[in-house]
This record gives sequence, structure tokens and C-alpha cells, in this order.
Amino acid sequence: MKSAEIREAFLRFFEEKGHTRVASSSLIPANDPTLLFTNAGMNQFKDCFLGLEKRAYTRATTSQKCVRAGGKHNDLENVGYTARHHTFFEMLGNFSFGDYFKRDAISYAWEFLTSEKWLNLPKDKLWVTVYATDDEAFDIWTRDVGVPVERMVRIGDNKGAPYASDNFWAMGDTGPCGPCTEIFFDHGADIWGGPPGSPEEDGDRYIEIWNNVFMQFNRTADGVLHPLPAPSVDTGMGLERISAVLQHVHSNYEIDLFQSLLKASAEAIGCANDDAPSLKVVADHIRSCSFLIADGVLPSNEGRGYVLRRIIRRACRHGNKLGAKGTFFHKIVAALVAEMGEAFSELVQQQAHIERVLKTEEEQFAKTLEQGLKILEQDLAGLEGNLIPGHVVFKLYDTYGFPVDLTNDIARERSLTLDEEGFEREMQAQRERARSASAFGMDYNSLVKVDGETQFTGYAGTQGQGAVLALFRDGQAVEALEDGQEGVVVLDRTPFYAESGGQIGDSGYLEADGVRFEVRDTQKAGGAYLHHGVVAGGRLGKGLAVEARVTAEVRDATALNHSATHLLHAALRQVLGDHVQQKGSLVDSQRLRFDFSHFEAIKPDQLRQLEDIVNAEIRKNTAVETEETDIDNAKRKGAMALFGEKYGDRVRVLSMGGGFSVELCGGIHASRTGDIGLFKIVSESGVAAGVRRIEAVTGAAALAYLNAAEEQLKEAASLLKGGRDNLVDKLSAVLERNRQLEKELEQLKAKAASAAGDDLAGAAVDVNGVKVLATRLDGLDGKALLALVDQLKNKLGSAVILLGGELDGKVVLVAGVTQDLTARFKAGDLMKQATAAVGGKGGGRPDMAQGGGTDVARLDEALATARALVEAAA
Ligand code: SER
Repeated sequence: MKSAEIREAFLRFFEEKGHTRVASSSLIPANDPTLLFTNAGMNQFKDCFLGLEKRAYTRATTSQKCVRAGGKHNDLENVGYTARHHTFFEMLGNFSFGDYFKRDAISYAWEFLTSEKWLNLPKDKLWVTVYATDDEAFDIWTRDVGVPVERMVRIGDNKGAPYASDNFWAMGDTGPCGPCTEIFFDHGADIWGGPPGSPEEDGDRYIEIWNNVFMQFNRTADGVLHPLPAPSVDTGMGLERISAVLQHVHSNYEIDLFQSLLKASAEAIGCANDDAPSLKVVADHIRSCSFLIADGVLPSNEGRGYVLRRIIRRACRHGNKLGAKGTFFHKIVAALVAEMGEAFSELVQQQAHIERVLKTEEEQFAKTLEQGLKILEQDLAGLEGNLIPGHVVFKLYDTYGFPVDLTNDIARERSLTLDEEGFEREMQAQRERARSASAFGMDYNSLVKVDGETQFTGYAGTQGQGAVLALFRDGQAVEALEDGQEGVVVLDRTPFYAESGGQIGDSGYLEADGVRFEVRDTQKAGGAYLHHGVVAGGRLGKGLAVEARVTAEVRDATALNHSATHLLHAALRQVLGDHVQQKGSLVDSQRLRFDFSHFEAIKPDQLRQLEDIVNAEIRKNTAVETEETDIDNAKRKGAMALFGEKYGDRVRVLSMGGGFSVELCGGIHASRTGDIGLFKIVSESGVAAGVRRIEAVTGAAALAYLNAAEEQLKEAASLLKGGRDNLVDKLSAVLERNRQLEKELEQLKAKAASAAGDDLAGAAVDVNGVKVLATRLDGLDGKALLALVDQLKNKLGSAVILLGGELDGKVVLVAGVTQDLTARFKAGDLMKQATAAVGGKGGGRPDMAQGGGTDVARLDEALATARALVEAAA
């Protein structure tokens, strides 16, 4: 069975068991700052387990994109060296939200794996583990399913702390968790390894294929397990591992999907397609890197972008090890698209973007390596002894991205060793710095969480009644907020729009008799709308009925910018092509900012074209239409959806211009496109490799922008004593006149210098038979003085000359010695002495030298050095 068929069979099986098929969520977890990457199928359902989110279904099945390359579940260093670890993998899962529990979960898993209709695996090859104290699961397996006790293993807290066990699963240090039962497949006696729980369990013989977690608890930061509102189920089966089993191979890298990636990797690198771990690393990493980029991550020096950068660099290093010349990694994307594009359309749509980002990063890494090598050489040159200090290794690694194993290779070649302990100390310190600076790993339970939902009434207007459901101060629930206190208010109904889809949250007031709460921002937490602000009078208590008023001018201006963003998005795809994908946006009342994938700066005529298209749509003044529908129907209508956005089961489709723009969007918009008035682009720039940014203004702000430009024009015209119509002619004439005057000035200066030269020559004095000329000439620059010295040399025939003067508060000095005297006096030496006197520096050839200084008051002292030099030589 091919991997794609297994994926489909799994989803169909669970559909037949009453589960709703739900799409994979983005690798960037939605609304969850505690998690680096989506690392399990259950992530998108976390709030369903906690009882904070209700969906239309209580049973779901997914094939979820997962990355485990950072955070709690991190497989990065194992990849390539075991048969079964990956940075990216697909997790097949079935979920119950307070619906079925242990018995059904176990029997579904067994039926799917062993029944003839489905995977038909030999039962005697399957082993099962349960949490040590989970007698219920043990009994279901042995009594109901009939798994012999010899192939059952109880696993306790084998990871050094209570509930730290292979059979107790938690997404992170806090949040939903529970005991689990895992199903293992025995790959046979010719593979090394022992059953789970045995000392040889890390071998590749007994491979865990399916984990069934019985979600029962919510763990808080104090380590306490609180029972969930309803026991639930979360299962996960790695598609690659089950494919290996069904394709009768013993390593994930031998399955259909990886075969073509390995082949493409070998071709791109130009090496043999053999069993080398480095080749597996490359074939594995192209998946995580491509999917992460498709979901909007870009290489950078922090957070998610930093992990991506590390994976790309690890791939480059392993490619280099195999002899890759130049960039190769981006060339493998095409094979990945061919293999997985059908199941994940984002790969197809973003292929060019992914390739571009990878290529740029590869090139940058090559430069980094070159630079790192230079730095290392410098450090090695000054090295005493044969130990490279830890801080040097760390600096190379941290500042220059220079891999430690490479430093190690170089050290080995020169019989040097690394101070590994010192390096580890620096790394530890850096990890601590990173931890304290990052929200990842933060306590999920410390985020404001609210039972119940807020009904949003703001599409219809900016005012409405609501009752206070909950209040928070410093993240803690409180009964009331007093006058002057800052905090968060949650209402049962609100017209305030909470920040999402790039549109900022509304601001305004909540009011009741004698009570006023100033809302500065509105944010969402699950289904609740959080009004952040301060009590500006009275006391706000739970249950209070308030009148909510959004500041309408701000909201209206924001709405125009939001609608214009959609029009711009559609226009960009028309002008630049379908590869344009939204990479971010910010919409407020002042302007709109739109980031999107594109490879080069947008040309001025293209910018004009974009403006023309958007303004034409504005003038058509069509109604902005919204429709609530399900996601499949929306996609059929061609609605542009964002990868990375979490969409519910019902979505809002927003259309403008009779199909010109169709997007999924929950934002606030104009009623008709004509409301936007005018659209004007104010800037275009690059924000990262392959990502461009356009900023634009609309409505009154666009008019203000144009008025300001017009004012400038008027001012310029009046300065030029002309009008707007002849401004360019006037300006050209002024510039031409300027050029002429400059020319004339040059000629005059030359004449004046020549005349001055004649006068100056007369001032030379005889010092011990040598003609010495040292004179002050203010207001001339170095170039003019050089010309003058040259002229004086000709006139005097044989002389030592030093000219100096003040220009813009600084000293300028030029020295010259005629050829016949350079054996005795050097202009460079003279200049060193002269400049030392005025606190500056200078130097040059024996016959001509130049310099300067800052101490104008000592200029005469500087000039006196000429005479002194000649006298001293006597
Ligand atoms: N969440 C569990 C795991 O990742 C089961 O899906 O193993």
C-alpha cells in the first residue's frame, strides 16, 4: 500500500466510525504562544480537551503535519541515524472530545490494524504497552481484544519524575495530558533491538506505531493534575512508520515517499544514492524546511526562524560532507512537490517561494562559512597551547553560525582540541538567556482563559449592550475592577472587534451609570473577547450591564484599509502572478501594510498598475458581500485562504467587485468599494528573502497624503518663482545654470591659484642653501592645495614646501619636496611632524604628502616644522 493510500484508508475508516475529517492545521500553532511548532495531531484541539472550545462534532480524524525540531518533543539530532526519527512527519489521528474513551479507542485501533478489510497486520507481530497503573486498559487489551499477556508491557514513570513516562503523554509542561497505550510492531529477529521496557528498546526491531492517549488531566505549572471536564481520546500514528510496516521495509527511509526524495537528494548533491546517514538527513530536512516555509516561517536569528535556519544549515553541512559543490538543497523541492503536492496544495502553490528562500539561505550560509574560517584562522594564529577555548568555539557558533562539528574537524586536522566544557558552559548560559527572552515554554494555564463565549455584534454597528462575564487583573480573575485600575473585561456580547486577520482590535468605551471603562485594545482568547483598558470612573463588577461604544472614526478608517488590502491582494496576483501569497498584514486606521511572496522589487510601472486596478475597482463601487458557509464550499468558490490561519467549521467569505476578490475573512469592511475613496501606495520594500512589503493609504489619509505632496510642490514652485505647470522647466533651468556657474567657478579658482602661486613663490626663504616655503592659505581644500604645491615646485625648481590652512574649522596640510631633494627630505616625514602639531594624521610619498588636524590654533606651529626639518639636517 502506498503512503497516500494508507492516509486515505485511515481517514475513511474513522469517518465510517462517525468521525469528522478535519484538515491539518498549520505548523505554526494558532493562538498558542506556548508551542514552537505543531508537534502532534491534538494541538489544534487543545481547547476542545480543556472544555474551552465547543465544535459541531465530538469525534474527529486528521492527518496532521508535525515538526519535532525544538521545544519539548525534539528529534533533530536523531534524524538520519535511526530508522524512524524525522524533523517532519505526518501524524494520523482520531480524537474524542468527551465522547468515547478507552474501550472504543482500543477496539478501533485494533480493528483498523488487524482486520482484513483494512490493514490486515499479523496480530502476533503487535506488542502493546500501557501505563503501569492503568489496569483498565490492560484488561481491555488482554480480555476483550485478546492480546496475550506475554506481549503486554506495563511501563511506569521511567523518566525520573512522577508522570514522566513513555506511557504518560503531555504536549508540554502544562496543559492537557494523560496515560497512554502504545502499539508496537515487531520488525523481526534479523533487526537489532528489544521489546519496549527492555534495555535494548532503542533498537529498530520493535517500533512504536500508534499511541492512544487517554486525555484525562490538565497539568498546571505547580505540577498538579486537574481532571478534565470529560475524559477524551487523542491518538497518533506516524504515517511514515506504518508505511514501512505495510511496505515490508525496516526503515522509514525505504518507503515509497522517501525513495524519490533520497534519489533527488543524491542527484542534487552529485553523490551515490547509498545508505549514508547524511543523505537521509538531507531527504528528511527538505520536508520540514519546505513545509515550514510554506506555512510562513522564514530563516532568522530567533524563535521559529532560528530553528528553521538551523535545520537548513544542518542539511547544507551534510550535503557538503557528501561532496556537494555550490548550492543544492533548493533543487530537491521539485521532487517533494511531486511526491506530496497532491495532499498538500500549499507546496504546489509556493514551490517557487520555497526554492528562492532556501537558495538565498544556502548562499548566505556559504558566506558565513567563509567568514567563520577567516575568524578561526585569526584566533588560531594567536593561540597558545593546543586547546581552542570554549568562548572562541561559541563565538563562531553563535555569532557566525559556524557549526561546532566543523570547528572540530579543523581542530583535528591541526592536532588541536576543543574546550568542550567551556563551550557547554557558554551554551548553557545562552539557553538560559533564550528561555527568559522567549514566550515558548511559558505556562499555558497562565494565559487568560474564560469559560463561555462572547457573541460578536460588531458587523452590524459600533454600539451595543453587553453584560460583564468576567474580569481580570494581572492575568488573575477578579470580581471587580476599581476606578483607575487597568485590566481586562469580558462581555457576553460586544460590538468590539478583537484583533485578528491583521486588523487591529477596536478601542472605545464601556459605560454604565457612573461607570466608564476606556477600552484601548481588544484581543481574543478562545471564544472570548478581551477588552483591555482602564477604569476611568466608577467600579466595574461582574454581571454589570454596559453600553459598549467603539470609536467609530477609527473603526471606519480601519475598515477602508482592510477592504483595500483585499483589493490589493487580488491586484497583485493579476499583475505579478499566482505565486503571490500573503505573508502578513497589518491594518489600522492610518494605513495598511501587506507582506507577500515575490522575488524582486516591484517596478514603478507595476506599482502604478496596481494602483490603477485598485482605484478602478473602487470607482465601480460594487457592494462588499459576505456569506457564511462551510470551508469546502468556500474553497470551491475560489476563496483565498491563508495557510497558518485557523478556520472554524463555518467560515465567512468576503467578495468584492463581483468575484474580483474572494477571501475568507472575519474582518470589518466597507459597505461598498466606493467608500474607500482613493488608494495610494506610499512605499514598497523588501522584508526578507522573497518577501516584499507594500504600504498604502486610503480615504481621508490618502487625500491628506496627496495634499501634503501638493503643498511641497507649491512650496518648491514658489521658491523657483514659478507655478506647478512649469516647475520641471524651471528646475531644469536652475540646474543648468548651476552647472555653468560651477564650471566658471572652477576656472576662476584655477586662475586665482596660479596668480597666488606667483606671489607665493616670492615668499620662499633660503635655509642652509635649501629653498623653504611654508605658508598659511585658508579656505582651500586639499585638492586645491595639491595643485598649488605642484605649481610651486615647478616655479621654484628646487624646494621644500608646506602649505596649510583652515577649512570648515579643520586644518588642511599639503607638503611637497622637489625630486632633487627627496633623498634628504621626505614630504611624508614632514607631514607626520606637521600634523602631529595640530593633533591629526597624514602621510604620503617622498615628493608629495597630505594630511590634516583639528587644532587650528596651532597651525603656525605646524608650518614651522618645514624650516625646522631643513635646519635639523644641516
Ligand atoms: N499526542 C500523542 C502523540 O503525539 C498521540 O497523538 O504521541
